[in-house]
Amino acid sequence: MALYLVTGGAGFIGSHLCDALIARGDRVRVLDDLSTDHLSNLPPGIDFLKGDIADPEAAAKATQDVDGCFHLAAIASVERGVNDWTGTHKANLTGAITIFDALRRTGAPVVYASSAAVYGDCQTIPIDETADRSPLSAYGADKLGCELHARVASHVHGIPAVGLRFFNVYGPRQDPKSPYSGVISISGVISIFCQRIGDGAPIAIFGDGGQTRDFVHVSDVVKALLAAMALKPTDAPVFNVCTGQATSVLDLAHLIADLAGKPLNHSFQPPRAGEIRHSLGNPARLRATLHAADPVQLRTGLAGVLAWMAASR
Ligand code: NAD
Ligand code: UD1
Repeated sequence: MALYLVTGGAGFIGSHLCDALIARGDRVRVLDDLSTDHLSNLPPGIDFLKGDIADPEAAAKATQDVDGCFHLAAIASVERGVNDWTGTHKANLTGAITIFDALRRTGAPVVYASSAAVYGDCQTIPIDETADRSPLSAYGADKLGCELHARVASHVHGIPAVGLRFFNVYGPRQDPKSPYSGVISISGVISIFCQRIGDGAPIAIFGDGGQTRDFVHVSDVVKALLAAMALKPTDAPVFNVCTGQATSVLDLAHLIADLAGKPLNHSFQPPRAGEIRHSLGNPARLRATLHAADPVQLRTGLAGVLAWMAASR
C-alpha cells in the first residue's frame, strides 16, 4: 500500500483525487491550509495536516515517508493574482518550491498542477506543449515558474517530476461561491452559471461572450494525475490536460439554460483584467501517454453538475 501526499487535497480537484486513491487502496496524506474551507470534501481515512505549503516545517512533516506527492495546492484564480500579486505568488510559486525542496530528502516523485494559463493568449489553436509560453497573468507566470523549478528539481536534485497543464476543469464540488466571509472563493464559470441559472438568477458575461475555453471534466483530470504518477520520468515533461473541444462562454450559458430547462437571463459586463481570449488545448500528447479514452462530453458533464447542485440545495 503506497502513501501519497496530496497538497490542496481539500480542494475541488484534490478531493476527487483523494477519493480515487482511497478507492484503489492507497494511503493518503493531505496538506491544506483550508483557505477555501472545504474540509468536508475529504473522504474518511485521510491523514489530514492543516498547514501552509510555503512553510518549510509543514512541508517537511507532510513529505515524510511518502511514495509520491501530488502538488495541487494553490490560489487557483487568475483574478486573485491581479488583486493580490505577492500573496498569490507566495502560495503559487514559493509554496511549490518549498514542496519540491522538501521532496529532496525523500527522492519521491512529484506530479504538480500547472495550467493552460502558461500559454497566455494562444495565437495558434489548438495549442500543443511545444508552443511559446507567454503568460498574461501573475497566476500564469507563477505556474510557468513551477514548471521551471520542476526542471531544477528533476535535473539538479533527481526528483522525478511531471507537470499537468490543466485547462478549465469542472465537475461536482466546484464551489460557485462560498457564503462565509473571510474565506477565499475560487469559482469557475461552469459552477457559477449552473448555480445561478438553476436558481433562475441572472448571470454576468464578461466581455462579449465570444471568448472560448476547453472545459475538461474532473474525472478525466484524475485519470491523468494517476497515470502521470506512474511515469517517474527523468526529463520533467509537461502535458496538456484538455479535450481539444472549444466552447464560447455565451454558448456555454445557452447550453446550461437548455439543460436546466430555464430561461437565460444575462447581461454583458466589461472584460476581466488579464483575460485570455481563446484557450484550446491539443490533447495528442495526453492521449498518447497518459489517458487514451474519450473525455467526458460537455453536455454529460454539465448534466452531472446540475444534478449535484440540485441534490445539495
Ligand atoms: P481549489 O481552490 O479547489 O483547491 C486548492 C486547495 O489548495 C484548497 O483546498 C486550498 O485550501 C488549498 N491551498 C491554497 N493555498 C494553500 C497554501 N498556501 N497552503 C496549503 N493549502 C493551500 O482549486 P482546484 O480547482 O482544485 O485547483 C487545484 C490545482 O489545479 C491548483 O494548483 C490550480 O492552480 C490548478 N488548476 C486548476 C484549474 C481549474 O480549472 N480548476 C485549471 C488549471 C489549473
Ligand atoms: C481557469 C481556472 C484557472 C486555470 C485557467 C486555465 C477557474 C476558477 N480558474 O481560469 O485555475 O489555470 O482556467 O486557463 O477554474 N466568466 C463570465 N462570467 C462569470 C465567470 C466567468 O463571463 O460569472 C468568463 C470569464 O471571463 C472567462 C471564462 O468565463 O472568460 C472562464 O472563466 P473562469 O472559469 O473564471 O476561468 P479562467 O479565467 O479561464
